[in-house]
Amino acid sequence: MTIHINQENSQFHLQGKEVSYIFQVMRNGQIGQLYFGQKLRHRDDFSHLSKEEFRVTSSYLYEEDPSFSLDTVKQDYPSYGTSDYREPAFHIIQPDGSRISNFTYQSHQVVKGKPGLKGLPATYVEDETEAETLVLRLFDEVTEVELNLMYTVYHNRNVIVRSVNFINKGVEEHVLDRALSASIDLPDSNFEWLQLAGSWSRERHIHKQRLHPGIQRIQSTRGTSSSQHNPYIGLKRPETTEIEGEVYGFSLVYSGNFLAQVEVDQYDISRVSMGISPFDFSWKLNPGESFQTPEVVMGYSRAGLNDLSQTYHDLYQGRLARGKWRDRERPVLINNWEATYFDFNEEKLLSIAEQSQKLGIELFVLDDGWFGRRNDDTTSLGDWFVDEAKLPNGLKPLVDQVNDLGMSFGLWFEPEMVSKESQLYKEHPEWIIHVPGRKPSTGRHQLVLDFSNPDVVEYIYEQMAAVLSESNIEYVKWDMNRYMTEIGSARLASDQQMEVPHRYMLGVYHLYEKLVNAFPHVLFESCASGGARFDPGMLYYAPQGWTSDDTDAIERLSIQYGTSMVYPLSGMGAHISAVPNHQVKRVTSLKTRGDVAYFGAFGYELDVTEMDDEEKEQVKKQVAWYKEHRHLLQYGTFHRLISPFEGDGNETSWMAVSKDQNKAVVGYYQVLARVNPGFNRVKLSGLDPDKEYRMEGFERTYFGDELMHAGIQLEGGYDGSQTGGIDESGDFSSQLFVLTSVNES
Ligand code: DGJ
Repeated sequence: MTIHINQENSQFHLQGKEVSYIFQVMRNGQIGQLYFGQKLRHRDDFSHLSKEEFRVTSSYLYEEDPSFSLDTVKQDYPSYGTSDYREPAFHIIQPDGSRISNFTYQSHQVVKGKPGLKGLPATYVEDETEAETLVLRLFDEVTEVELNLMYTVYHNRNVIVRSVNFINKGVEEHVLDRALSASIDLPDSNFEWLQLAGSWSRERHIHKQRLHPGIQRIQSTRGTSSSQHNPYIGLKRPETTEIEGEVYGFSLVYSGNFLAQVEVDQYDISRVSMGISPFDFSWKLNPGESFQTPEVVMGYSRAGLNDLSQTYHDLYQGRLARGKWRDRERPVLINNWEATYFDFNEEKLLSIAEQSQKLGIELFVLDDGWFGRRNDDTTSLGDWFVDEAKLPNGLKPLVDQVNDLGMSFGLWFEPEMVSKESQLYKEHPEWIIHVPGRKPSTGRHQLVLDFSNPDVVEYIYEQMAAVLSESNIEYVKWDMNRYMTEIGSARLASDQQMEVPHRYMLGVYHLYEKLVNAFPHVLFESCASGGARFDPGMLYYAPQGWTSDDTDAIERLSIQYGTSMVYPLSGMGAHISAVPNHQVKRVTSLKTRGDVAYFGAFGYELDVTEMDDEEKEQVKKQVAWYKEHRHLLQYGTFHRLISPFEGDGNETSWMAVSKDQNKAVVGYYQVLARVNPGFNRVKLSGLDPDKEYRMEGFERTYFGDELMHAGIQLEGGYDGSQTGGIDESGDFSSQLFVLTSVNES
């Protein structure tokens, strides 16, 4: 059994593979948190895990009992206003102005498997025996609102998945102005907080800091999860490393405004809160209506950061991503964006496709600029019909010719946007997110369509479906290139304007759902100016995402390293682009660019027709090499070895190991060359200690234990001799090690 219930003391114990989550109904009927961490054996009573004792600071005493106060007890979905002064999980504004509530336990239900969340992305099961879900029903007699707290535990994973559903069972209208997905009180504060922060083109860099008393938080108020912050935080013990130590993860399956927060209280309890950002959010809960929050995936490991990341990779790859492409090797693609930008015609595109096909590339992607009159970024978004000035024969003949080459065809859309200069905007100026009487700010000359309006979503669906039905399009890059401003909807009442960002997200999810159902063969790749909406919510619809607009190999080391904290390699678009690199003007070798981009959903984003024969030959070899190893690189177990965020950041290393531990590919990267360097070694991870491995290019074999504990001797840089150094030396160098167990080779 995975969910144990001690009826007598109303305690609930969820046991996953190596994780336990324990809570109870407290004396006042509310929910108290007892434990989250390494799996514990079950026992009849865990009450002692809650420390109830008198403190002079405690002002609320339940039935005058000096040992019980909400100010000191650990809780699991705390409320506001009755002496718990920490930030609550929810806030209900009532018709008489009251914000006080008292949700008490009514009943519970254990459901096999995991129910879906209406209109929202969510992790799932394929077989009911994979997981169990506990639903606790709480009720507040004054507001007559019901609260359903949902907890799912997977038998073979180290996660607890939580979400909440509010139902107004009464006759009065209430307003939710905070409705988080989860809140948990951890018993101490001896943690380092880890977040993935950045900006456009430098997304998801790792930042760490010690928890301190008070509130530390990240959030997005931009309308998407954003490139500034990712909806993830880790809480690690100060001594925890990539390979050992305790760490908790909190990952929100949502793509809009979010909050991730830890409040360390006066007794060193760390309250972790996560969900839709309460800033500029409110939701009218009319009688009979319900509100479903997105879900939080809470992970735990005592085997270090890599182990926790692998838990997320496995869950998100196998039980969040869906559809035909979930488990399939992703095609090697070529995207014309950095090759041509807006300046192309049919002949140019075909010449790129023809040349790419000769190099073994499988998918040709036509990026921005194929529709309306879009010769730059000032026009045509919303006009999803082909630009006949560029493609006089239309899209279909181009797609057919690419297909005739033996390649599949992919197309770019930016469904959620409209250009001021477009037919759509002329016809429907009221369809944008805006506030009457206020000038809408443009970003990249464009406005955000009001996806909180179902008519808009339906219209865009019709436009996209027409294009996707007309030609054999097998891949869609769904872009989104600006954040929201002047948030408001012409369709919603004045007291519902703060619902717009969440309703917008529900609209985006609805459009995705319709498209993935109508075109199940299409591989969707999400994108938002690179990685500004790279989150678990998107993975439910699009099994891969464009990691960053920054394609420079050295910049990508940090971006891909940070992204791998949560997201699997199969989900990370990684392309080789031209040099000097378009973002940072750096010149790196084709080898280094390849060695970095291999660790992801691999492709090219340059003009192959401009390459000389030697380069083409190298690309051909890269593509062949990647195809040979791509299953391992996309679906193997990923291990981070050396962090670009530690030390002087000069080195990075990572590796992917096949599930049967018979094959592995290691990438080692050095930013600046070192003269006469030390004898540097890199210790591998995830191998079978007892297996003997052959390393390509090396004569002897090595056992897994030696590779993991003694490591591989790295080649030095310039050694002082006349001919000096090895081929891979020099700035921006890389080395790849391919290992195969001898029984396999
Ligand atoms: C931003 C994306 O991240 C790029 O890859 C490209 O598709 C451009 N938009 C096109 O406008």
